[in-house]
Amino acid sequence: MSYEYITVAREDGVGIVTLNRPKILNALNLKLIDELVTELTNLDKDSEIRTILLTGNEKAFAAGADINEMAEASAIEIMKRDQFAVWDRISLISKPIIGAVSGFALGGGCELMMNCDIVIASETAVIGQPEIKLGVMPGAGGTQRLVRAVGLRKAMEMLLTGDPITAKEALQYGLVNRVVPVEVYYQEALKLAKQIAGQPPLAVQVIKKAAHKASDLPLQEGMDYERNGFYLLLASEDRQEGMQAFLEKRKPRFTGN
Ligand code: HXC
Repeated sequence: MSYEYITVAREDGVGIVTLNRPKILNALNLKLIDELVTELTNLDKDSEIRTILLTGNEKAFAAGADINEMAEASAIEIMKRDQFAVWDRISLISKPIIGAVSGFALGGGCELMMNCDIVIASETAVIGQPEIKLGVMPGAGGTQRLVRAVGLRKAMEMLLTGDPITAKEALQYGLVNRVVPVEVYYQEALKLAKQIAGQPPLAVQVIKKAAHKASDLPLQEGMDYERNGFYLLLASEDRQEGMQAFLEKRKPRFTGN
């Protein structure tokens, strides 16, 4: 499939999606988000793909929603676009999404980054929710996911000042997993994506879903969810292979069954 605003590649079980609107810092227009969600959904269904790497370029992961597209539209027009229905589909992707983030991750870019399950950031990353400076607010989960990610105090400061934080500060607050030099952020993220691509796929997906339930469900319900996942995985062929390989002191060969 050919796209206008993203590119797609595959490497060792990793589907690599690159945001590709470099002239305007990967500003997220409706078509880009539509293409992104279409491709994420395709990769999610593709049995040869086990993890997804989402990236931009060195200068920008994404500098937010496309302000040109929003500037002239009325509230009703924007509501009728129902763009967030498309955004919401990102959280339904069952395979892990690894973010390789460099440069600007602002507004919708920060929200997109927070949809990644693991984030490797370059030292140059600049992360924030500047919507307040435009007289608006985050609309794709910024107030909700940021509070869950960094806690109410830090989130409140970021949301009300609109000022971005550095990669180092993002690491300190658990908003990213690792900060590495810009020369290697992409390779580090790809290496991690490949490592997870080598894990038993069913276990990966059930664990991803269960971990996300932790912020949605009361503890006991989350525990019940976890336990059901645990029993389900016991029925998988990969569980037999994993345990057998351990006993035979050899490397397991996981098939996803
Ligand atoms: C449209 C954008 C853009 C954006 C940058 N550009 N961000 N165009 N929408 N979000 C364009 C600029 O207009 C410019 O185009 C080119 O990209 C390069 O940007 P500069 O401003 O010249 O670069 P620089 O001086 O390095 O400043 C970078 C920046 C600044 C700090 C990131 O561009 C900026 O503040 N951008 C807006 C960030 C923002 O407010 N994001 C939140 C958007 S609201 P030209 O043609 O002049 O070269 C949002 C709501 C989310 O995300 C709701 C959910 C979807």
